[in-house]
Amino acid sequence: MADDNRACVGGFVDTTVHEDVKDYYGKVLKKTEDLKSNACVAPAKPVPAFIRQALKKVHPEVTARYYGCGLVVPECLEGCKILDLGSGSGRDCYMLSQLVGQKGHVTGIDMTEDQLDVARTHVDYHMKEFGYKTPNVSFVQGYIEALTEAGLEKSSFDIIISNCVVNLSPDKKRVLAEAYSVLKDGGELYFSDVYSSGRLTEEIKNHKVLWGECVGGALWWKDLLLLAEEVGFSPPRLVTASVITVDNKELQDILGDFKFVSATYRLFKVPKGNTKPCRVMYNGSITGAEDSFQFDRRYTFKVDDPVEVDGEVATILTQSRFKADFTFQPPGGPCEPRGAKPEEAIVDPFELVLQLEKPSPGSATGGCCSTKSAPCCK
Ligand SMILES: C[S@@+](CC[C@H](N)C(=O)[O-])C[C@H]1O[C@@H](n2cnc3c(N)ncnc32)[C@H](O)[C@@H]1O
Repeated sequence: MADDNRACVGGFVDTTVHEDVKDYYGKVLKKTEDLKSNACVAPAKPVPAFIRQALKKVHPEVTARYYGCGLVVPECLEGCKILDLGSGSGRDCYMLSQLVGQKGHVTGIDMTEDQLDVARTHVDYHMKEFGYKTPNVSFVQGYIEALTEAGLEKSSFDIIISNCVVNLSPDKKRVLAEAYSVLKDGGELYFSDVYSSGRLTEEIKNHKVLWGECVGGALWWKDLLLLAEEVGFSPPRLVTASVITVDNKELQDILGDFKFVSATYRLFKVPKGNTKPCRVMYNGSITGAEDSFQFDRRYTFKVDDPVEVDGEVATILTQSRFKADFTFQPPGGPCEPRGAKPEEAIVDPFELVLQLEKPSPGSATGGCCSTKSAPCCK
């Protein structure tokens, strides 16, 4: 149902897709400007200053082969163990290496030797630049559909990120299942990818350039919700989305009326069944989010303002690395929420794109009480 037929033959991954994609990212493309659409480089979110600084420290040869489609910087990273699926030349790994610090670690996995070569060549340069005594970054060659086979341990990562890669996989369900298995309990898959407005035709899926350009393998966004549920993740929370345009007449004709967006979702590995809403108060302890923390499109938590969250978010906040950044009370406590009410939840990235084009109504929070507390991954 949700996955593509071209790709799954008798339940096995069709390795010709892998070979085509390796060829595209290893041989055909040499730099960002070689792309034929903006699918792989669409900015999905404005970049905060501290991340711009971190990006500036990445070696230009690494940046020149960046093909991502979003900003994959989840909050609260100090000391975390992060895995980057389809790390390419390593730009995001080197950016995150600075944010997890010397006690954290970032592992990049990619199947394309040429991309890994660029990433590995610059490990020493970056470690010196960041002032680290021992490298906190490593790169593994392997398939994102087979993480444990590539030597990655089950239940060993706090966070998995990915930037414009899952669409390229012939077996998205397997990618999500493998990600789930190597995440720790309470861990998060935070990733940006390309999504389509409907299930794509065989003609589109079989077009090598469209697939390589991150469009031909795009999931219908509703299928992500189904796959996430089948694999065991919490329902995807939409963080941001932006339109993708394919500025090439020949490719446009094949794509017809299908529309595409780059969207960032967060999925958590948390227990199911607790659906009780809760009143939470953010204490401002996340680096870069000292005044407010935008969790997703629905919830932006301002420091010391109580907010009533739905059962899904209550479970995520109490079971994940964010636990220490909040205080929790039963809903309807002594202080009434003040300020704007949380916006309605949006999971459809196409709806979000339309909403973002309208003037902003402001962020969503409530109000009163306070405390301060501790860091993230230990
Ligand atoms: C669009 S590029 C994005 C690279 C990187 N995330 C970035 O932002 O620059 C896609 C990358 O994913 C890798 N890739 C695609 N499918 C893969 C798979 N099934 N297993 C491992 N790597 C894969 C490709 O080799 C390529 O380096």
